[in-house]
Amino acid sequence: MLFSLPSAFTILAVCLLRVVAGPASSSNAAPPRGFVTARGTKFELDGKPFAFVGANSYWLPLLTTQADVEHTFQSMQAAGVKVLRTWGFNAINGSELAGAKESGLTYYQVWNSSQWTLNEGPQGLQRLDNVIETAGKYGIKVILAFTNNWVGYGGMELYINWIAGAGNTHDVFYTDPRIIASYQSYVRTIVERYKNSPNIFAWELMNEARCSGDLPSGPSCTPASGAESLLKWYKSQSDFVRSLDPHHLITTGGEGHFFWKKPRTYWFDSQLVSDYNWNGQAGEDFDRNLALPNIDFATYHLYPQTWYPELDTPGSNFSVAGWGLEWINDHIKAGNKANKPIVLEEFGVSGLDNKTHVYTQWVQHALDTKHAIMPWQFGALGLTESGGNRVIKYADALINGASPNDGLAIYANQTAVWNIFTHAAKVQAQRSK
Ligand SMILES: *[C@@H]1O[C@H](CO)[C@@H](O)[C@H](O)[C@H]1NC(C)=O
Ligand SMILES: *[C@@H]1O[C@H](CO)[C@@H](O)[C@H](O)[C@H]1NC(C)=O
Ligand SMILES: *[C@@H]1O[C@H](CO)[C@@H](O)[C@H](O)[C@H]1NC(C)=O
Ligand SMILES: *[C@@H]1O[C@H](CO)[C@@H](O)[C@H](O)[C@H]1NC(C)=O
Ligand SMILES: *[C@@H]1O[C@H](CO)[C@@H](O)[C@H](O)[C@H]1NC(C)=O
Repeated sequence: MLFSLPSAFTILAVCLLRVVAGPASSSNAAPPRGFVTARGTKFELDGKPFAFVGANSYWLPLLTTQADVEHTFQSMQAAGVKVLRTWGFNAINGSELAGAKESGLTYYQVWNSSQWTLNEGPQGLQRLDNVIETAGKYGIKVILAFTNNWVGYGGMELYINWIAGAGNTHDVFYTDPRIIASYQSYVRTIVERYKNSPNIFAWELMNEARCSGDLPSGPSCTPASGAESLLKWYKSQSDFVRSLDPHHLITTGGEGHFFWKKPRTYWFDSQLVSDYNWNGQAGEDFDRNLALPNIDFATYHLYPQTWYPELDTPGSNFSVAGWGLEWINDHIKAGNKANKPIVLEEFGVSGLDNKTHVYTQWVQHALDTKHAIMPWQFGALGLTESGGNRVIKYADALINGASPNDGLAIYANQTAVWNIFTHAAKVQAQRSK
């Protein structure tokens, strides 16, 4: 954690790796057995196509008993899940430490100064070690995100608050060299820990990077401002990860916002509105991000209900299901143009009837266009911790043995919805031969 000497340390690390691993961009060299690769718009595993349905579960490394971890992986395996996406971060403030210890909360980083401390103990990275190891036992590969645009379970705002100080905007995360060095120091810890593991599917630079988060954005961050902070950050961080690990795939973890010269529009309240998912307002430029040499595949997310509160108002001219199909189509086109795979990495709608109605269409369309899907979020039943009831953090809790539900969890007892995904997993398995 040599924060004061970031560039010297980075250069030294890169040189050392070059000696050991050859040129930094040796991603073309044959990867070890069991590593997923990208070929054109498809994934491959050991020379065969690798099509999949995945699961999102940020709470899996927060479980405290091996029995519950095993049980969750068993139900994922039974559902045909091949890829798990979870957080490779869990950071707390020093002021939260006593409570975290007492409640059994998982934490990897503690912030009590500009320099966080790492927790490699049994309540720390050993829990992540265990999740990654157990995943392999059930034939599941893991996507790990290094930090979060949002405050939940730690994330960018902690780096900003402790290193740059109060009063700074969210986007300083992408440009302040001290913050970048601190982020890279954590990234190095995680990548070095698991870089030889075939249980890792991919590294993800950030969950849902945007110019603003819980803090507002400054004036120069978005592509329209000319700053292109996210593009530059994705470029240098993906190059950095590649210098540490020549073989695992690297992706952004972004929501998939486009920066089109002529963004899509829609009618709202009798006005034609420029659609922020296509006008670069959030900070991403999907096409250019995907073209970066060390971004191996792209992710996108899909939440029209929360993205468009105006959706059901009179005068709006689109539906949740229809908007999603258009969003999927535009990403397919972008993936084809870049000749790289795309993953519909998070999506959700509220309400059981909505889920059944909308997911049927989205999942079928994704299958028809042959790309991987990961619904938000996997639901486990029958967890036993603290008798099946345990508060994790915030409002998250296991209730009667059910994993946390933000209204989007999908449990096996909701058979109409569950079956959409188990059916899709069978289709994907057929394609993976
Ligand atoms: C962390 O603690 C600092 C100082 O105690 C506080 O200002 C900040 O809001 C906290 N940040 C988060 C994300 O909890
Ligand atoms: C955090 O720092 C403050 C001030 O230096 C100190 O009083 C406190 O004990 C520290 N907390 C932890 C958890 O290290
Ligand atoms: C809504 O209206 C705009 C502008 O006429 C049009 O471009 C867009 O395709 C429409 N959306 C839908 C879903 O019909
Ligand atoms: C179903 O979707 C509609 C349209 O977004 C929304 O208004 C409604 O609240 C949803 N139902 C539930 C139970 O969440
Ligand atoms: C499924 O399990 C969840 C979590 O325990 C519960 O809230 C829900 O009511 C159950 N649904 C059905 C259809 O049994």
